[in-house]
Amino acid sequence: MEKDFLEKVLIDEEEIKEICKRLGAQITEDYKDKNLLVVGVLKGSVPFLTDLIRNIDLECELDFMAVSSYEGTQTSGRVAFKKDLDINPEGRDILIVEDILDSGLTLSYLKNVLAVRNPASVKICTFLDKPANRKAPLTAEYVGKTIPDEFVIGYGLDYNEKYRNLSYVGVLSPKIYAE
Ligand code: IMP
Ligand code: MG
Repeated sequence: MEKDFLEKVLIDEEEIKEICKRLGAQITEDYKDKNLLVVGVLKGSVPFLTDLIRNIDLECELDFMAVSSYEGTQTSGRVAFKKDLDINPEGRDILIVEDILDSGLTLSYLKNVLAVRNPASVKICTFLDKPANRKAPLTAEYVGKTIPDEFVIGYGLDYNEKYRNLSYVGVLSPKIYAE
């Protein structure tokens, strides 16, 4: 199975399953007396979110937000709001679910937006963490896996909107950037 867009597989399906099981169990324990509202960040978080919530053994609600970093391949620091919550977050224990925490600019923006709406709490669950590239001082309470500063694709993560449907996480081949 040669895939020319792929440098290597970083996290296979088996490991993804284990990560979701571990995080789901931890969240189940931590939120058992809380009023959990899971907020997925569109679109990258979707595969992770669907696996994660099936490992959370609690009554909870689900909603989505969408933002986009302003233009280009590098995060510019400017974030545009594209979709707001449908559910009122006041008094709720919000768990933001994201595909990857990189510069931290997207999630610190979202955290600030939600914090002023009087939720009971706001925490972050990210599938991947790339701490090497952090620009905003942000840490996630729940991290699937910490990875080196490489551009990854699959399991929700895209390059120009492609590769989100891969069932594993891989490092994008540099050949693809050069095209
Ligand atoms: P941040 O604001 O820099 O933390 O940006 C996070 C967003 O950048 C993620 O939601 C992804 O959409 C994107 N991103 C950052 N690193 C990668 C990567 O390695 N592959 C694909 N998307 C990435
Ligand atoms: Mg994203």
